[in-house]
Amino acid sequence: MAKLRVGIIGCGGMGGAHAQRLVGMKEVKIAALCDLTEDIAGAFRARHLGEAGKNTPLYAGSANLYAGTKLDAVIIATPHTTHFELGMEALDQGMHVLMEKPMVTSAPHAYTLAAKVKETGKVFTIGYNTPCTPAFGYLREKIRSNAFGKLELVTGYLSQWWMKGTIGAWRQDPALSGGGQAYDSGAHLLNSVVWSVESRPAEVFAFVDNHGTRVDINSVISIRFANGVMASLCISGNCPASAGPLSFLFENGRVDIDGWGGSYLDVVVKGEPENPELPKIDGTPDRNFVDTVLGRAEAKTSPLNGIFHTELMDAIYAAAASGQPAKPGAIPVKAPAKAAKAPAKAAKAPAKAAKAPAKAAKAPVKRAAKKA
Ligand SMILES: NC(=O)c1ccc[n+]([C@@H]2O[C@H](COP(=O)([O-])OP(=O)(O)OC[C@H]3O[C@@H](n4cnc5c(N)ncnc54)[C@H](O)[C@@H]3O)[C@@H](O)[C@H]2O)c1
Repeated sequence: MAKLRVGIIGCGGMGGAHAQRLVGMKEVKIAALCDLTEDIAGAFRARHLGEAGKNTPLYAGSANLYAGTKLDAVIIATPHTTHFELGMEALDQGMHVLMEKPMVTSAPHAYTLAAKVKETGKVFTIGYNTPCTPAFGYLREKIRSNAFGKLELVTGYLSQWWMKGTIGAWRQDPALSGGGQAYDSGAHLLNSVVWSVESRPAEVFAFVDNHGTRVDINSVISIRFANGVMASLCISGNCPASAGPLSFLFENGRVDIDGWGGSYLDVVVKGEPENPELPKIDGTPDRNFVDTVLGRAEAKTSPLNGIFHTELMDAIYAAAASGQPAKPGAIPVKAPAKAAKAPAKAAKAPAKAAKAPAKAAKAPVKRAAKKA
């Protein structure tokens, strides 16, 4: 069988995590690397592809990539505000796309990209960690089937020593990041909620503290979803004890789960602990993307997740700015920030953000067992 020819756009920290996953897949060939300069892509090739990949072509800029090498798919792992243009271009070039999170950084961009995905019929998934994990597969099935009664409330937080680790990097430049910690590692927690509740955020209130930077560092967020579920979440970028726990509270039970990486799950039903047997699988977005392109799996993420997530983000920033609750449909449509052309300073990925995907790949374990 011919191998799936995948190009990586964005040869930084997360591009490296994707490369490491792809080199282990026999049905995939990393067929090209692309960054702002060939030098960046070349150093990445030496780090991640070794002797076997020493002839992999390198490209400065995505236009040169598509002109130079025939591909089936691309993984886009670049700063957030570049995602929209790179995603539209990739779809126009006939690519299947695995887009790093967040999908885009404004709702209008999300709508346009989703329409392009529909028009082209290509596979388009997003690099959120948790939807591909068995723990979140279990949770979603229980919510859909009302197994524990109606889902009422969701609460949780994400904390990470993000602010200090991203000083001077694109992550604190709104023109490239589109926002701060809520759009960066916070995207995993927020998407975990939005993906599981499967409903549009109808009303949102938020307090946001930038801690003297140009982007959000700490946020407190309240959400009422269209289906009546309510959520209360904290995102922190200056508290170093990294964690991302979520609790889903049902009429008849509770699920405590790792909302960052899907690595653990505790279930209580009618006051009694349950011990669900979960499959031990490769629960990475890369595995799901490749399997979906090859027609042997269903995509675990879709542009609709990106729409709900960006609507939520727009509402968080609108509510924090106005001091009033925001309704996604009622927010004035702002002109989406133009992707900056200046080369982004390659940021050191915050330690935990880079590690999170690896965590997601592990089979979920009970927290009690992990502690023992
Ligand atoms: N899924 C996860 O757990 C996870 C973890 C970390 C980062 N991410 C995401 O991955 C993406 C990249 O983050 P990172 O930590 O790898 O950043 P990074 O700074 O380490 O790497 C980004 C790379 O993109 C390159 N780049 C910038 N603009 C480009 C363009 N127009 N064309 C080609 N290359 C371009 C930069 O030169 C740099 O090499 C972001 O969306 C981030 O949120 C996801």
